[in-house]
Formats: sequence, structure tokens, C-alpha cells
Amino acid sequence: MPKFNFMSFIEEIERRRTFGIISHPDAGKTTLTEKLLLFGGAIQEAGAVKSNKIKKGATSDFMEIERQRGISVATSVLAFEYNDIKINILDTPGHKDFAEDTFRTLTAVDSVIVVIDVAKGVEEQTEKLVEVCRMRNIPMIVFINKLDREGKDAFDLLDEVEQKLGLRVTPLSFPIGMGYEFKGIYNIWEKNINLFSGDSRKDIEETIEVSDLASSELDVLIGEDAANTLREEIELVEGIYPEFDKEAYKNGELQPVFFGSALNNFGVRELLDCFVEIAPKPRPKQSDTRLVDPEESKFTGFVFKIHANMDPNHRNRLAFVKIVSGEFKRNTPYLHVRNNKKLKFSSPNAFFAEKKEIVDISYPGDIVGLQDTGSFKIGDTLTEGEILNYKGVPSFSPEHFRYINNADPLKSKQLAKGIDQLMDEGVAQLFTLELNGRKVIGTVGALQYEVIQYRLEHEYGAKCIYENLNVAKACWIEPEDEKNDEFKEFKQVKQRFLAKDKQDQLVFLADSMFSLQMTQQKYPSIKFHFTSEYH
Ligand code: G4P
Repeated sequence: MPKFNFMSFIEEIERRRTFGIISHPDAGKTTLTEKLLLFGGAIQEAGAVKSNKIKKGATSDFMEIERQRGISVATSVLAFEYNDIKINILDTPGHKDFAEDTFRTLTAVDSVIVVIDVAKGVEEQTEKLVEVCRMRNIPMIVFINKLDREGKDAFDLLDEVEQKLGLRVTPLSFPIGMGYEFKGIYNIWEKNINLFSGDSRKDIEETIEVSDLASSELDVLIGEDAANTLREEIELVEGIYPEFDKEAYKNGELQPVFFGSALNNFGVRELLDCFVEIAPKPRPKQSDTRLVDPEESKFTGFVFKIHANMDPNHRNRLAFVKIVSGEFKRNTPYLHVRNNKKLKFSSPNAFFAEKKEIVDISYPGDIVGLQDTGSFKIGDTLTEGEILNYKGVPSFSPEHFRYINNADPLKSKQLAKGIDQLMDEGVAQLFTLELNGRKVIGTVGALQYEVIQYRLEHEYGAKCIYENLNVAKACWIEPEDEKNDEFKEFKQVKQRFLAKDKQDQLVFLADSMFSLQMTQQKYPSIKFHFTSEYH
């Protein structure tokens, strides 16, 4: 085995950038991802990255869901090199019913790029996802897309981003015109101008550079009026917005904004060049016992996603592990902390543009895919022996609830196993009612019920039927203290509405938001938590 080389280990960490692209569906996440891969030389032509979107109307089209699952395995991690920087893009599903997957993936990124459609502005899904990033101080860069179309005024949009997303922005590029009048981008970061030539749809952009705004060359290139407007606008930008400060960006206190058109490859190189320069390398991560630094020599990592094999004959799954510290090596025993068991992996996968390969060694920031026969659960931690657990991969309070019943009495074992494994994958959450032991499935989106039913049948040979249940919200209860009189009374009065989750934590299933409020008022010493991770 080669000796550990600390210097090259540090260099490997320094050159890694692991991030996610978040947006409301249709803002251009897939297109931007593809263009970034094109710049990295990881793919040769546009259209190579398949869309992982659940197309409208997919609720009744199960084959479509399966196909999408297949694609989402392939695009889970897209890695490429650019200027000797190793970039890992973690895919985040845009569909709102899969928002929980996205929240979990955000625990594994070191920064994000937020894509906003210039015409639609800040949309609902963007608001939710940015809020999660803001709470965790994740560094964010904003990319305003589709400048080739008519959209909102740039200053209005920047205001909207600040107000709706609660961000503090500073533009690092600025559009020259828009839609039909779109002429190009002034790059504040690099202090030059890239002019748009409308026919660059397929090829990587060609740009004409102008190094000085005051230069009369600008008037010749874009016309006197546009040149004067630009000069005024840039003066305004410099007057209104704070100067870019890398530390503030890295602390999540300031968000640089770029304008462009992903489809036309415009403004994408500027975004990428700035990204590799300012985006953070792998960051330290908090565990239940201490803050772990990526540069520590001992390996630690955690599972943020589990993907079932698409082939029903091979039941194994792929667990996606983010490496937090140390080197992950093939065929080396690591401690699975929750099970207190040593596990060795003979064929860990590393991810490249759209393929995966077995690797001997991976570094902090990287994602490895581990073959799993059912021992992993989302949130599990692996170490070289230290007992620690990474926090921050909670279950979120579901909003849809249904009883799940067995529809084929001969297959009850298969049903139990299937439900168990699908819950470990994080597809939905299982609650068992205290009163009668009935099983309830809680999900963030309604689409999951179809997915569960379909997958139970096709992967486990089990059949289920659902039954409606009048629950509006689930929340975790703290403390569970039998000596506390208020808790005792609460348990007695609310017995019908109490359940246990898979970790045996007590959950209150409120039948309406109103009754939840009333209950909270009545029992002030009890805390009602909206994520499972409140300890
Ligand atoms: P998503 O992953 O965020 O959901 O969005 P995606 O990239 O799939 O883009 C959504 C639609 O917006 C696509 O059109 C895409 O071509 C278009 N688009 C992306 N970037 C730009 C841009 O800079 N300018 C313009 N004008 N359009 C852009 P579609 O018709 O829905 O799909 P397709 O048939 O083109 O693939």
C-alpha cells in the first residue's frame, strides 16, 4: 500500500469544489449543468445530459417514473475537471414532491448555484430551497438565466431576489439589453464585455472583449445609446451594491449575481471561471461530538442518498457517501457507527460526467457510491473507528398521510421488507399508531404514494392499498418525560393522535393546523418539532 502523502492529500482537497444547482423547475438547471460539462470537456455535445425532470402528468405514468429513476442514478453526481479543479455537481430533483431528496443532498454540498428565470423571477421552489441554504450559511451564487428572452428589469429582479430570498446581493455581471435587444454582458468581475451573437446556440461562445467602459470602442460595438445606458447602469450598480467580498460570500452573508443565457452558452464561462476561483473547497462539518476538518487524516463520511438497483433481480442498492475527512480507500474496513459493525467495500464507485468507475482512493469533497445489501440508512456515518454521527440529514415533517394496508395476505413478509427498505432510502416515512399498531405512510408529496405502490409490486412482489387518514401535519414531541404531569396528560388526551417513527421517537399527528396550535397552547412545556433532528 502506498504511503500516505500529506502534501498531495492537501492539494487534492484544495482543488475540489462540490456543489448543487437549485432552481424552480424549468428555470434552466439541466441546461446550465450541461453547459458546465461542455466547458469541462466532459461531454462533447449539447443534449448529452438527459433531463431528470419528472414530466408533467407523470403521476399516472409509472414507466416514466422508473425511467426517470434510471436517469437520476446516472446524473446523481456529475464530476469533471476544469483548470485543474475537480468539480462535483450533485443533482437535486426539481420536482416539488421530491423536495426532501433535494434538502438531503444540500447537506452534502459545499456551495450552491441558484438559477432564476429572468421572466418568472423568484419562484416558490427557489424560495424554499434558498431558505434551507440560508439557514445553513451555504455560500450561494445566483445565475439569472434566459436573458435572450424578454424579462424583468435587472434592478427590479435584484430587488426581488433580495426581498423574497432574504439575500444580500452584488452583481458581478450585468446585462446589456434584454430579449430581442440583448447585446451582451458586462463582466464586472473580470472588467470586460462579452458580446452576444445570436447564432451561438450550439457552440461555445465567442466573445469580443472590451477592457474599458469609457472607451469609444463600446459605442461602435453596441451603439451610442446602449453604451451610455450601460455606463449609467454600472455607475448605479457600484453606488447601490456592496463590493464583492470573498469572505462574506463564503460565510453566506453576500451572494454574487451573474446574468446570462444557459441555452445560448452565454455568461456560463464567466460564471464557471468565477466559481472555481471563489467557491469554497470542502468545508468542516459538525458531528454530534465535534467539528471535523477535511484535512484530518482519518476517513469519515456520511450517507446522504440511497438508490435502489433498477434491476429487480439484483436487490442491492447504491449508497452515496460524501467524504468529509481523510482518504476513503477500497477494501479497507470502516466502522458503520449506527450498527457498530466494520464494513469493507471492494468496489466503491466514483462518478464522472455520466459514468461511474471503481476507484481505489477518494478525497474529501468527493462522493463514493457503495454497494449496499440493506445495511445503510440515510444519515448513517462511516469512520475509521471513532464514534461520531453527522447531523443535518433530518426527516422533514410530512404533509400527506395515508394508512397502508396489505392487499395480499400471502406476501406480508415481502410487504414489510419492502416498506422497511423504501423508508431507509428516504422515499417516505413510516409511523406506527400507538393505539392500534396501524401503519401510516407520511410523505412530502402525493406522487410518492404512486411510487411506493409501484415499487413494492415490481421490486418486492407485494401489494398494498391505501386508506385515507385525516392528518394535516406530523411533529416530533419533546421531552418524552413520564414524570412530567403535562406530558402524562397530553399522552392520555391525545392518545389517538400519537405514533412512533422508525427510530421509536414519539410523533403527534395533528388533524388540522388549528388543532396543532390549540394543542401547543394547552401544553406549553412540550416542544413540537418539525424535523426529526432536534436533539
Ligand atoms: P430545469 O432543469 O431547471 O427544469 O430546466 P431546463 O434546463 O430543462 O430548461 C427548461 C426549458 O428552458 C427548456 O426548454 C430549455 O431549453 C429552456 N432554457 C434553458 N435555458 C434557456 C435560455 O437561456 N434561454 C431560453 N430561451 N431558454 C432556455 P423546453 O422547451 O422546456 O425543453 P427543450 O425541449 O428545449 O429541452
